[in-house]
Amino acid sequence: MGKIVQAAKITHVPSIWMSHTMPKYKGIRQPAIDGYARLRQDAIDREVDTFIIFDTHWITNQGFHLNTKEHHKGRFISHELPHMLADMEFDYRGDHDLGETILDVLRERGERALGHSHPDMGMEYGTLLPMHFINDGVNARILPVAVNQFSSIAENRVWGEAIAEGIRRSDRNVSILASGSLSHDFTPNERSVEGLNAVNGEFNRQMDMRVLELWEQGRFEEFLELLPDYAKKCTGECAMNDTALLFGALGWGSYKGEIDIYTPYFGSSGTGQANISFSV
Ligand SMILES: [Fe+2]
Repeated sequence: MGKIVQAAKITHVPSIWMSHTMPKYKGIRQPAIDGYARLRQDAIDREVDTFIIFDTHWITNQGFHLNTKEHHKGRFISHELPHMLADMEFDYRGDHDLGETILDVLRERGERALGHSHPDMGMEYGTLLPMHFINDGVNARILPVAVNQFSSIAENRVWGEAIAEGIRRSDRNVSILASGSLSHDFTPNERSVEGLNAVNGEFNRQMDMRVLELWEQGRFEEFLELLPDYAKKCTGECAMNDTALLFGALGWGSYKGEIDIYTPYFGSSGTGQANISFSV
C-alpha cells in the first residue's frame, strides 16, 4: 500500500534562482535553499518515490488536471519574470501510473479530472524551481498537479482527499508539496526593485505570522475556518488552493500533526514565503 511519507508547504520564488546563479544576489535566499536541503534529506531518508506538486503557476480555469507525462525534459525560462529565472535545465521521470490511479479515484467520485501526456505539455516553475533543489540526488518521479484559480476551497478539499486515496491504492512512497505563497500581494511595479525582500503591507505580514502561529499550535481547524477569507483578503496565490489541496490530502480538520519551520518566514517581491514541513 502506498503512503504519504512527506508533506510540506513550500516557496518557489524566482529570487531563489537569483541567489543561486547571479553573483550580485548571491546568498539573498540562502535560508530558502537551506530549507530545501532539509526537505531533500527527509525525502532521501523516507525513500520518496514520487513528488506530487500542487503548482500554483500551472494555473487552470476549468476542471482538475494532472501532468501524467512519463518524462519531463527541457530548458526553462519564466515568462513572468524572465530577468529572474532562466536557463534552468530539467530532466525528470514522470509518474503516469500514479496519475492514472488518482484519476480513477476522482472519476469514481464524479469529479471532472483529466490527465495529460501530450508531448507539448510544459512545466511551470512552481514545480521546476523546488525540484531543482529538493529532487537533486533523490531522483524521484514527479507528478505536477494544476491549481484551478476559479475552484472553491471545498472542491480542493475533495480533490486532495481523492489524491490521498489514490496514493493509498498505489505502491508509492509519496511526497506532497503545496508550492505557493502565503499572502501574495506583489509590490507595485514602481516600487518593485525596493520590494525584493519585503512583504507588501503590514496587514498581510501580520496575517501570515498569525497563520504560522496557528499551525505551530496545531490549531488547524481554526485555520481552515479562516482560509477562505485569508485567501481573499491577502490576495492568495491561485486562491491558496494549493494549501486547500494539501490539507485535503492530510485529512482536513482531523489532521493532528505538527509543523517544523524549515525556512523562517520571509518577504519576496511583496509576497510572504516559508518552507514548512508537516509531520505525517
Ligand atoms: Fe509564485
